Formats: sequence, C-alpha cells, structure tokens
Amino acid sequence: MRKILYICCRTKNCSSIMNSETYIHNPNRYESMNYRRCGKSGVLLPELSLGFWHNFGENHDEACGLDIVHYAFDHGICHFDLANNYGPPNGAAEERFGRYMKQSLHTHRDELFIATKAGHLMWEGPYGDWGSRKSLIASLDQSLRRMNIDYVDIYYTHRYDPNTPLEETMQALVDIVRSGKALYVGLSKYPPEVARKAYAYLEAHDVHCILYQGRYNMLTRQPEEIIIPQAHANGTGFIAFSPLAQGLLTDRYLQGIPDGSRMAVNHFLKADMLTPSLVDKLSLLNEIASRRGQTLAGMALAWLLRDERVTSVIIGASSVGQLKENLRVRENLHFSEDELTAIDNVLNTNG
Ligand SMILES: NC(=O)c1ccc[n+]([C@@H]2O[C@H](COP(=O)([O-])OP(=O)(O)OC[C@H]3O[C@@H](n4cnc5c(N)ncnc54)[C@H](OP(=O)(O)O)[C@@H]3O)[C@@H](O)[C@H]2O)c1
Repeated sequence: MRKILYICCRTKNCSSIMNSETYIHNPNRYESMNYRRCGKSGVLLPELSLGFWHNFGENHDEACGLDIVHYAFDHGICHFDLANNYGPPNGAAEERFGRYMKQSLHTHRDELFIATKAGHLMWEGPYGDWGSRKSLIASLDQSLRRMNIDYVDIYYTHRYDPNTPLEETMQALVDIVRSGKALYVGLSKYPPEVARKAYAYLEAHDVHCILYQGRYNMLTRQPEEIIIPQAHANGTGFIAFSPLAQGLLTDRYLQGIPDGSRMAVNHFLKADMLTPSLVDKLSLLNEIASRRGQTLAGMALAWLLRDERVTSVIIGASSVGQLKENLRVRENLHFSEDELTAIDNVLNTNG
C-alpha cells in the first residue's frame, strides 16, 4: 500500500520503514474496523484508538513510531489520544505527533480525531498544572503549536482539580469550544459525584460532554459500578485507557520481566506488582484466551468491547507487531456465558 523509502531504524524490536513523503494510505482502511458512537453525539470512534502516553517520547525511535501511526491509520484507527505532558520529556509526544502530521498525515486531517488534555504538571509555576482557566487555555495553545494543527477534535480536563471551582474549569471548556480550538470536550478520571455536576454545567451551556476517559481493564473494574452507567445515562461515551493494564494483560510478563518492557524501563509499571498470584491469574486467563483461539491481549480487549457502552479502548503499542496482534481482537468479540463466568472466577480469586 505504500512506496517504501528505507531509513535506518535504531531500535532492535522494530523493523522500521521511515516513509514520510512517500506514504500512501491504504484505500481499504475503513473496512477492517468497527466504529461506535460516542454517547448521543454525532461522533463515531474506532473500537481501537491509539494512545501516545508512552512509546512516542525521546527515548523511543521516531521512525518506529511513525510506522506504528501509519499502521494504525491504515487499519482504520483514526483516533489518536495525546496529552500535553506525554513524553518524556513533557510535550515530546505532541511535538513528535506534530512532525508526523507535517510529514505525512496533514492531508488526512479531516479523517483524524485528535485528542489532547491538560491537568497534570506540564510547566513550572502556578499555571502549568491542574484546572484553572489560565492553565487550560494556555496549555491548549501550546499543544496546537506542538502538534502543527489548528484545532483538536476533543480537549479533556485530564483530572479533577479540587482547588479550582468546577464552574471555572467547565466554563474554560465551554469557551474553548466557542473559540473553535476544540470541537468537543471530555472528562478524564473525574470522581462520579463531580462528573455529574460537570455534565450538567456543560449541558446547561450547550456543550455536550461526549466522552469520559477512565482506566478500565480486567484488573480494574471500578468504572462498571458508577462511571460507565452514569456516562451512558448522560449520553456520554466511555473510552477506556490502559486496557491491557500497561501490558500485564498480555503474554509479556508470564515468564518474568523482559528487557525493554515497560516494567523494566518505566516507573509507571512497578516490578513489585508482578506477584506470583498475579502471574497465576494471568496464566489462567491466558489459557482461557487460547481456548478461544486468541492471545491474552486479544481477549482482554474483546472483554472490554463486550459492553456496547464502551465506545473505544485506547491501546498503547511499542511496536507494529503489538498493534497487529491487538487489531486481531476483531476476529473473536463474542463471549459465551461459560467463558464470562470462567473469566469472572479467575478475576475474583483473591491474591
Ligand atoms: N486519561 C489518563 O489519565 C490516561 C492515563 C493513562 C493512559 N491514557 C491513554 O491511554 C493510552 C493507553 O495506555 P497504556 O499505554 O497504558 O495502554 P495498554 O494498552 O494497557 O498498555 C500498552 C503497553 O502494553 C504492552 N503491549 C501492548 N500490546 C501488547 C501485545 N500485543 N503484546 C505484549 N505487550 C503489549 C506495551 O508495553 P511494552 O512497552 O512493554 O512493549 C504497550 O506499550 C495512553 O497512551 C494514553 O493515550 C490516559
């Protein structure tokens, strides 16, 4: 699907093809993906979206990242999830994404749904963190510059700021939409009681909140209790982050901690999480997945998508191979009652 210009790739685990100007998109890219509606909005998102939290910072090969982005786009993943602070260092993922836009994706801008966020520490001083109007508006302007785009499709408040009046944060989102710098807005990690008020404020100002972004995977099921039903009742889509529990819900850690894995190199996934009882649990899940003819990663993603209220899951991938494997989720999205019970039994085991 593309003319190839080879440029040396420095990473071992990624057979990279840097192909900026010669990139020709796959004309059949939308045929292999399903799209789900964000709540009651007009927006459809691919069942799998691509996240830029890791794998697109200065410690990852840029050409390899471009391959991942091209492969995603070529397979119908048109939603890219970023944030001001993704890197490392902060801002690096957006800068890199900006170069990808310039090099090869700008002609497809209208086919892309690009997200960014503000709310975690981004720059020094009193305005580079949390949820003030000053911080959200300044941060979005920076993000747009880094990403080489005029507007984002969705802008999230990355986390609830208990020290800023909710009305100030929400009004900033309303004004950002009015300014045209974001088409839609969303909440990330808001506690349910605050999310309820936020939804109401936005609605009262004619800005519907189209997405709630929360951590949801087989090992973290809290959103099932309030967040997902609440979002659904509000006509807001739910988008799951860390659907593979940062790689735990794959075969990556079944035999220990491999070199180069997130657990080996990154403090966000700590080695002391990998207890013998967790490994037992993952091994049992892996067996269930094999019986379904799926990898553990594939089953973990399918398990999230079993719920129609989940609009999309945002996966991370450190190689095209991982992305390829994860896209195979669509080969088996159905679960029998017996399979769901067997999975619940494993997940409910103590330890
Ligand atoms: N709103 C928020 O506060 C928030 C928080 C976190 C994340 N997010 C969003 O959600 C996105 C996804 O989060 P995440 O990266 O934690 O997602 P994830 O899909 O749970 O984990 C991705 C990691 O799992 C490993 N992996 C993926 N597929 C694999 C496979 N088939 N086989 C083996 N290992 C595999 C890779 O780690 P290795 O590096 O070990 O290869 C990969 O980097 C982020 O990029 C971000 O956009 C949002």
